[in-house]
Amino acid sequence: MTAMGRREFLAAAVAGGASALLPDWARGAGAWRDRTSSADARIEVLLDEPIGTIAPEIYGHFTEHLGGVIYDGVWVGEQSKVPNIGGVRRALVEALRAIKPGVIRWPGGCFADSYDWRDGVGPRERRPKRTNFWADDPRFKDLGDIPAKYDPNAFGTGEFLHVCRLVGAQPYLAVNVRSLSARAFDEWLEFCNAPAGSTTWAGVRAAAGDRDPYGVRFWGIGNEAWGCGGNFTPEQYAEEYRRFTTWAVPRYGVDLAFIGSGPSGGDLDWTQRCFAALAERDALNGMWGWSLHHYCSADGAGADAVAFDDRGWYELLAGANRMESLIASQWQEMGRRDREHKIKLVVDEWGAWHKTAPLVDASHLFESQSTMRDALVAGLTLDTFNRHADKVAMAAVAQLVNCIQSLFFTHGDRLVVTPVYHVFAMYAAHQDARAVRTVWSAPQVSWTNEKGEPQALWGLNGSASVRDRALTLTVTNPALAAARETEIAVRGSTIASVRATTLAARSVHDVNSFEHPDVVRPATADVAAHGPSLGYTFPPASITKLEITLAG
Ligand code: AHR
Repeated sequence: MTAMGRREFLAAAVAGGASALLPDWARGAGAWRDRTSSADARIEVLLDEPIGTIAPEIYGHFTEHLGGVIYDGVWVGEQSKVPNIGGVRRALVEALRAIKPGVIRWPGGCFADSYDWRDGVGPRERRPKRTNFWADDPRFKDLGDIPAKYDPNAFGTGEFLHVCRLVGAQPYLAVNVRSLSARAFDEWLEFCNAPAGSTTWAGVRAAAGDRDPYGVRFWGIGNEAWGCGGNFTPEQYAEEYRRFTTWAVPRYGVDLAFIGSGPSGGDLDWTQRCFAALAERDALNGMWGWSLHHYCSADGAGADAVAFDDRGWYELLAGANRMESLIASQWQEMGRRDREHKIKLVVDEWGAWHKTAPLVDASHLFESQSTMRDALVAGLTLDTFNRHADKVAMAAVAQLVNCIQSLFFTHGDRLVVTPVYHVFAMYAAHQDARAVRTVWSAPQVSWTNEKGEPQALWGLNGSASVRDRALTLTVTNPALAAARETEIAVRGSTIASVRATTLAARSVHDVNSFEHPDVVRPATADVAAHGPSLGYTFPPASITKLEITLAG
């Protein structure tokens, strides 16, 4: 395809001009009509250049027995005054179901490698109480015997599968490699997937009311095996991975997908050495996914979740944007042994982990308020996954509720959704659609770091996907003050209609609270547009979804 010249592009943009109906707070957002174009940015959507299908599992979540994630966040118990469905917080189920969660990962995280799944099955009143992996965190010192210190095991495998069924997500279980045996893993598979009546563990499941096997497909073999998951060397972990996954694993007709414990951030040595040791015994053949974890944070006056400075805004976004190079470098390293790239990336922990954060509840370890800064971290990360739909098969934002980059906060019977939730709601349209290549051009945003060195980040970025005649284009504008007038050209079709949903806030420090739950929320408006292109102004510090109906 030949690129349209700038003059031709501008002419088309004016001819296909449009008007916007967005609210005042969007500060100049919207399409142009009868205006002289002063666009300094352009986006080209190349419909004939598919990347791959965007796996719904990319839109995944993570629930660890950590702080207030499970107990309080997800599980309130059947006897609770908090409205619940079989013990699971009803408001959370309803809000989560609405954004189509592709997958949910459980029970950890670091917790997983201390967890015995057998403690969490069978009659609840007979389940043992165990020390939680996170029990020694000094913040719990004066909080008594809370579940974050001593796990009552009321929430186990059956309860987790119940949550997955309620919200329509696939389950993704993390296997304890550090402190349980391969045999215990086989038996967990048996509990989950063996037909009723066939084995003792299947009988335990059936006795709790689940006759039908769960058919769990996704299994993470350990977590952060280089750290809390056993402090293994790559070669030692490869040996454990082989022991847990080869030959004798019972399948019960399920196409099991094993996920190896990959590196933190950009550690290529871990991947190189694990893959070499696995290839030596032909064990890469059975691997479905290779995990990658990436958390970002800002320093100095940017470190706080809410009271960050401008530099902290940009530094956090730049930190999140590292996902692009992490995917590229891991993918390249994986390809050295897996030449056909059968093994995909599973980014099963990602998010903004702020160094300081005002706590909503002291027992909610790593709970952190969420602003537009976190929303942009989510938007640009999901866009990165979409642009690499051929490489990333699954991902999970850390964590779903009351922890790190959450979609929800809960307290008692109250629940509030964060700006991050709204991003997932907007981006759900990408799931199962065909990602197509996009070309972006916009002036960079720039700032100086604490040492006074100049730094820069792209001025506009995003992703596009198509399903039948529906084109979804999601766009992040990271500039704190500048709206971005942009020419959008759709190559390979013409625009019949456009609807814009914009997430922005009066202040980038605004948060949603129990008292004021709707301070940051998206607004949707129709945009009158037709033709091969569209002029659109993206407000500063915003995320926009353009739902474009193609003419044919
Ligand atoms: O998400 C919190 C923790 O971060 C997880 O338990 C661990 O895997 C990671 O280090």
